Amino acid sequence: MDIVTTQADGVLTLRLNRPAKKNALTRAMYTDLTGALTAASGDDAVRAAVILGEGDDFCAGNDILDFAQGLAEMQSETIDSAPVFQFLKALTYFSKPLIAGVQGQAVGVGVTLLLHCDMVVAGDNARLRLPFLQLGLVPEAGSTLLLPQRIGHARAFEWLSQGQPVTAAQAHDWGLANRVVAPDAVEATAMDLARSLLRLSPAAVQQTKGFLRDPDALWQVIQAEGQVFRQLLTSPEAMKAFQAFLNKS
Ligand code: COA
Repeated sequence: MDIVTTQADGVLTLRLNRPAKKNALTRAMYTDLTGALTAASGDDAVRAAVILGEGDDFCAGNDILDFAQGLAEMQSETIDSAPVFQFLKALTYFSKPLIAGVQGQAVGVGVTLLLHCDMVVAGDNARLRLPFLQLGLVPEAGSTLLLPQRIGHARAFEWLSQGQPVTAAQAHDWGLANRVVAPDAVEATAMDLARSLLRLSPAAVQQTKGFLRDPDALWQVIQAEGQVFRQLLTSPEAMKAFQAFLNKS
């Protein structure tokens, strides 16, 4: 199982469980995540969710083999039927608190999904990368809206265009992470934060999250980015970058 979900005492844990591939997200994994978030939305027993990555790294982003091999399939899908967009929609409209625990490498959607989380715990070895422009793509998952909101345009543009990794300490300074802890304390700290919310009124927590975000506006941006992203997936620059990664050149 590449996504392992567990539920205990009001907290749903979503664990990316493909450590041999640095938890790179496949179409099947997006579908499983969508199912878990959708079920949790309708389950009063779930009061908060935590997303974690198994192994040394949080997530290496979208599976590049899927990008390279699934192009025909992807082109024939609408935004509404593509697994990645179904996941992004479920994430955007998830009304319960979502907390991430991030250690090691976080790349691409492994970073942009953090912008949808309500709290982020980073291991002090976390390295966050957004290589969309280096791959000939545009940022996705609403990050063109959320990233400048969170860290300001200048930092956002430099990060996206230069492709440099952002450390845990920088992520904390920039307001991307609430806590920086030792890598082996990431999971426990994220779980503690989730459990701390259980003392509060679920209705008050969800209403507060609702006032802090505007999912309809975010979903509009995700769709607009998605149209361009999908066109660029077949560009010569993107194809060359995928082949270079897959050939390890
Ligand atoms: N898609 C598919 N496979 C991936 C992957 C991805 N996004 N990221 C890593 N993997 C695979 C590697 O191909 C390798 O597989 P193999 O052991 O069968 O050869 C395995 O995971 C380990 O990766 P490796 O590159 O050897 O680990 P590393 O520690 O040297 O580097 C990363 C880790 C995350 C820095 C590096 O793998 C990387 O840059 N991945 C691509 C990230 C990316 O561009 N994602 C897309 C964003 S839009």
